[in-house]
Amino acid sequence: MNQTPRKILVTSALPYANGPIHIGHLVEYIQTDIWVRFQKMRGNQCHYVCADDAHGTPIMLRARQEGIDAETLIARVSKEHQADFADFAINFDNYHSTHSDENRELSALIYRRNKEKGHITNRTITQAFDPVENMFLPDRFIKGECPKCGAEDQYGDNCEACGASYSPNELKNAVSALSGATPEQRESEHYFFELAHFEEMLRGWTRGGHLQKEVSNKLDEWFEAGLQQWDISRDAPYFGFEIPDHPGKFFYVWLDAPIGYMASFKNLCERTKGLDFDAFWNKDSQTELYHFIGKDIIYFHALFWPAMLQGADFRTPTAIFSHGFLTVDGKKMSKSRGTFIKARSYLEHLNPEYLRYYFAAKLGSGIEDIDLNLEDFAQRVNSDLVGKVVNIASRCAGFIKKRFGGKLSEQLAEQALFDSFIEAGESIASRYENREFSHAVREIMALADQANQYIDEKKPWVMAKEEGKEQALHEVCSMGINLFRLLIGYLRPILPQTTEKSEAFLQIEPLTWQALATPLTNHTIAKFKPLMTRVELKQIESMVEASKEDLVATPSTTQNVTPEGPLTKDPISDTIAFADFAKVDLRIVKIIDASHVEGAEKLLQLTLDLGGEQRNVFAGIKSAYSPEELKGRMTVMVANLAPRKMRFGLSEGMVLAAGPGGDELFILSPDSGATPGMRVK
Ligand code: 2FM
Ligand code: ZN
Repeated sequence: MNQTPRKILVTSALPYANGPIHIGHLVEYIQTDIWVRFQKMRGNQCHYVCADDAHGTPIMLRARQEGIDAETLIARVSKEHQADFADFAINFDNYHSTHSDENRELSALIYRRNKEKGHITNRTITQAFDPVENMFLPDRFIKGECPKCGAEDQYGDNCEACGASYSPNELKNAVSALSGATPEQRESEHYFFELAHFEEMLRGWTRGGHLQKEVSNKLDEWFEAGLQQWDISRDAPYFGFEIPDHPGKFFYVWLDAPIGYMASFKNLCERTKGLDFDAFWNKDSQTELYHFIGKDIIYFHALFWPAMLQGADFRTPTAIFSHGFLTVDGKKMSKSRGTFIKARSYLEHLNPEYLRYYFAAKLGSGIEDIDLNLEDFAQRVNSDLVGKVVNIASRCAGFIKKRFGGKLSEQLAEQALFDSFIEAGESIASRYENREFSHAVREIMALADQANQYIDEKKPWVMAKEEGKEQALHEVCSMGINLFRLLIGYLRPILPQTTEKSEAFLQIEPLTWQALATPLTNHTIAKFKPLMTRVELKQIESMVEASKEDLVATPSTTQNVTPEGPLTKDPISDTIAFADFAKVDLRIVKIIDASHVEGAEKLLQLTLDLGGEQRNVFAGIKSAYSPEELKGRMTVMVANLAPRKMRFGLSEGMVLAAGPGGDELFILSPDSGATPGMRVK
């Protein structure tokens, strides 16, 4: 084990401040958190920082759509993100924002130093401009027909129907996704980072052991294609930092995002005595710097970021650790299948440590995607954690408490077995160090099998009934408790909460790797309380159902607010034929009853009178209305919507409401005189 503690700074990618954390994000935060907890347990000085990625057009538009300032939006989302992370036991040493003073200063500094060395140039470019919204349009806000296959409603620069890539100005009949207006081509001065100036340095760096092998190989393709100038500026209106010497021009969000890592650390240093920012970021720093990221943002981290740092005389990262994406039951996460699961929805149904364990059991050091198979998830958690690990403690603790006053024996029954567990610890540690968590878990579970086998062979429950076996019983059960302590110690980076409960049960200080080697003898433990319960399939089913509910229950105006973005003020849709409109049977209805739905976060159950006929409808308006204020009101419903079977019953139509969502949701009311059953024309 290391004598001098290593000094390590670790980051996870900064989540965008316009959407909730979901289980896809959690792969990375859990992976990083496990690694950081492991480093701390080994006695290293390890700092884990993160922040919200708060700038950019989507965030600006999202705030506008909600009718609030961008600052108000990012403050609210930051709170939500931090609550989700805390509840998943992601233990950041600091959580900051890219919209901060530290980040403004560091971004300006990095820009200035690069500019002084000639790495920033400018030229005029032509770009799509929305004449109604009065702003330049990022590619993803332009939609039209694919120039290759003619598919309608294709965004940006590639077609989802045929996979073709093109430039957004090749789209036919292009319109702004914001206003529906036809974009104009306008000129604007932009600022560029000259990535090609760093080609030699980057060729060396990307082959210098800082990246996974498959990532270095991928980068070769990019070198072959030639390193392009990188446009680091955006025109107003933009939510971001104004470029110091160019009023009206802003840094592109991806320029200041990675600098947010430094800014968060700087903010931590300002609050922590003895923590020196320069020692971690100076060119000749002896400390280690690691970024955990998803494989989709390698380009930014393995090319732009080291180049920007080098150009500004800062150190470059020790390594970038990329991971793959999450699939659920073998498929991309899907809202309609209920597998697009928000962190909060998960927490409402299941213990966060189940997911931490399952991801650990699946994660390796490569960039392959990992699959959350929901049945396998339940089965693994139940058989490994509840069936094997926790079980050892529960099998031995009762005897220790009842027969020996809670005190463990003075010596171990099987020193050799204990020693072999300690020896296995070094291999487990190297698995953690190399992010081969699935191997670490496999090795720990093999030890758990051995521990259970030991108890099975010794049969303390038989000894307990035999004469003269008192000491043997004491030593065997104490041995069992000691093996449990080692297992839980090895699992500590993965299961911090269960470990904490176990430490309270064992009445010991927080476990360090080094402390594990000293067995617990002649030591009093507390009464055993169940440490973890089994996963029930029905908990998983309700989580999936509730995630579907997020989709079906929300009135249509808010449905296009996805966590990734779309973010727009609702664009006016393409026109439809009158005949299509005529198919929608809109009716005036009276709400004759309204009630809460047990187990539903967003729904109210409404009984609607259509003038003789009654309908049962579940409406996602609970955040805005109480049942009492709805009873007796008139509103409008889609009466010929196909009935939908929901967990709570059949929903026979849909009431109409407008607004961004949350408590700002307004159901439609007809003028007085309209009566139930009237058709809306
Ligand atoms: O891809 C994303 O979600 C970005 N918000 C990640 C930024 S990571 C870093 F560079 F800030
Ligand atoms: Zn196409």
